[in-house]
Amino acid sequence: MEEFKENKQVKVPTHVSIIMDGNGRWAKLRGKERVFGHSNGVESVRASVEAAVENGVRYLSLFAFSEENWGRPADEVNTLMGLMLKAIADEVDSLKKQRVRFRVLGDLSRLEPSLVKAIHDAEVYTVPDSGEDPVLDLIIFLSYSGKWDILQAAKKLAFDYMSDPAGLEKVDASEFASRLVTAGIPDPDLIIRTSGESRISNYLLWQAAYSELLFVDTLWPDFRKEDFRSALEEYSKRDRRYGKVK
Ligand code: FPP
Repeated sequence: MEEFKENKQVKVPTHVSIIMDGNGRWAKLRGKERVFGHSNGVESVRASVEAAVENGVRYLSLFAFSEENWGRPADEVNTLMGLMLKAIADEVDSLKKQRVRFRVLGDLSRLEPSLVKAIHDAEVYTVPDSGEDPVLDLIIFLSYSGKWDILQAAKKLAFDYMSDPAGLEKVDASEFASRLVTAGIPDPDLIIRTSGESRISNYLLWQAAYSELLFVDTLWPDFRKEDFRSALEEYSKRDRRYGKVK
């Protein structure tokens, strides 16, 4: 099958974001512990990265761990952080080879120093050599929530205008957005949530203002390239008007 980027008739989203959901239920259906679902979810991450590259998507972001997820049992949290560390070690060379730039966004102050270091090293290592653009930016949202992001941006803004409160009058949405952790990254065109849940769950609250939302029943560990392609097909049928009349 021809890939989307070969077909000029089809709209390809610049930025696809995925709320990866359903790992726990996938494991339960197999009579296993929840963490079994998480470890199988890594294969779906790999498939999604490949599908994004093959179909000409420029940014792929994945909601891997929310602020609220810190409230899960310690062994599940530790397993997820361990999986993250292992996935970085296993995949970083392949990402570099595919010219995929790896980035992690969120409240990294809550992570173990060893994970913060591995993230930093992988981020530096996957910056393409001088002058080249990445084929794909792979952005992992870790220890992230939409309200946290908006709040930290508001605090930065307040700090920056401390000695010039009158200047706040001229602050517009784009100046505010330049203080979000997603500064410089285009807002998601398409947000996919797996597992049949129809919620945004405190994800990209500001950035999702005009995103197309797609809720699919597939549980995350079953999500493969065909599911990614189907989502792109569905997106290409959507009529985006941004509040205007066409
Ligand atoms: C949601 O399923 C999934 C997560 C909280 C974690 C996603 C993490 C991974 C797929 C593994 C590592 C990630 C990367 C980027 C390498 P859930 O546990 O909420 O499932 P449930 O709703 O069925 O309980």
